[in-house]
Amino acid sequence: MARFLFVGVGHQERALTGLITYSPIGEAGSWKNSLRKTKTKEQLIGSSKKTNLLNAFHSRKINHLPAAFRGNKADAAGPTAGMQDEDETGHTIPILSLFEIIEKMQENNRRKSKQSYGAMYSSIIGGITVDPTLMVIPLDDHMVHRGHGVFDTALIIDGHLYELDSHLDRLLRSALMAKIAPPFDRSYLRSILIQTVAASQCKQGSLRYWLTAGPGDFFLSSSGCPNSAFYAVVIENALSFHTEGVKVVTSSVPMKPPQFATMKNVNYLPNVLSKMEAEEKGAYAAIWFDDEGFVAEGPNMNVAFINKDKELLMPSFEKILSGCTAKRMLDLASTLVEQGVISDIRIGNITAEEGKAAEEMMLIGSGVQVTPVIMWDEQPIGNGKCGPITHTLLNMLLEDMKAGPSCIRVAVPY
Ligand SMILES: Cc1ncc(COP(=O)(O)O)c(C=O)c1O
Repeated sequence: MARFLFVGVGHQERALTGLITYSPIGEAGSWKNSLRKTKTKEQLIGSSKKTNLLNAFHSRKINHLPAAFRGNKADAAGPTAGMQDEDETGHTIPILSLFEIIEKMQENNRRKSKQSYGAMYSSIIGGITVDPTLMVIPLDDHMVHRGHGVFDTALIIDGHLYELDSHLDRLLRSALMAKIAPPFDRSYLRSILIQTVAASQCKQGSLRYWLTAGPGDFFLSSSGCPNSAFYAVVIENALSFHTEGVKVVTSSVPMKPPQFATMKNVNYLPNVLSKMEAEEKGAYAAIWFDDEGFVAEGPNMNVAFINKDKELLMPSFEKILSGCTAKRMLDLASTLVEQGVISDIRIGNITAEEGKAAEEMMLIGSGVQVTPVIMWDEQPIGNGKCGPITHTLLNMLLEDMKAGPSCIRVAVPY
């Protein structure tokens, strides 16, 4: 393992390696067992009284460790814990012990999170943790410092993974484009994802996962990274809806060129800035146009329109991300064509004029489902209210999420 090991943690690598061998879904005693196996045991604990204190701390029977564990070279975790001398500016940056770090990370977790993280898998440790404090990744993973990683998300709805296989296929396509050879075959990756959700006990939320070049060094090329890595995290939250409709603006942030827009890689800075621009203008999302001036997509969603002839219009996926939700919605929408609710489905170039003159506009994606757009650049879309076809498509999608076929909804074996 690398010297600079964990995001936000810094050194103490041997101590942390000991921590990571502890199986967080096991009982409290496994912490102690893990420490026993750790070569640095004497540095870490020193006496059985301290072991008991550590166990009590870890199982949260006590909230703070006594001073002997804090920043004391002789007693605390690891050889370098302690206070440094003041520098000429009067600043003193502490070198923290293992237990101070864990304590601070736990404190941060308690304070920080609006969201709750149910479980994390990491191929670096080869298993799952349900302790958010231990949900960390190596700083020298090339995903962190070079953006050499791809990711995807699947929704967890009523204890089922929605469209897991489409999302996994897209992850593998993205990995191929990013020249990342996955550390495991598809079937093993799929098992990891399902078992991580099972370990989390989460019934409503989302599963996010990353294939990365892996840890190795801080060079540009990933040739020094011996193994690619796979991470997954379960985030508990309920679906949120904007059924009354949202405003969008045209993005002034340039969109990614097709090679990068079609690959779901972790370089989302343009997407982030575009979303921030929208929020600054009181809108929900900013819409991109492609290099030829046609409507493209939003920062984390696809877009579609219903024109005056009741055609469903959607940009082709050649220059944008092929949305799993949009593809599923197109399948579902074909029944509306049979019923005569929609006259046709047209995939291709859409101009700004065509888009803004549409009767209905919608955002489509895992995070927004089907969300009506009622205003674009301060110009109302249709009558400025959620359109009936958008409403129907949203209901069809929600029904599919709750009761669709088993190939679309993968039951999680909790
Ligand atoms: C840029 C972009 N386009 C479209 C989508 C919609 O994709 P999906 O429906 O698979 O969530 C996303 C999803 O995050 C995205 O990031």
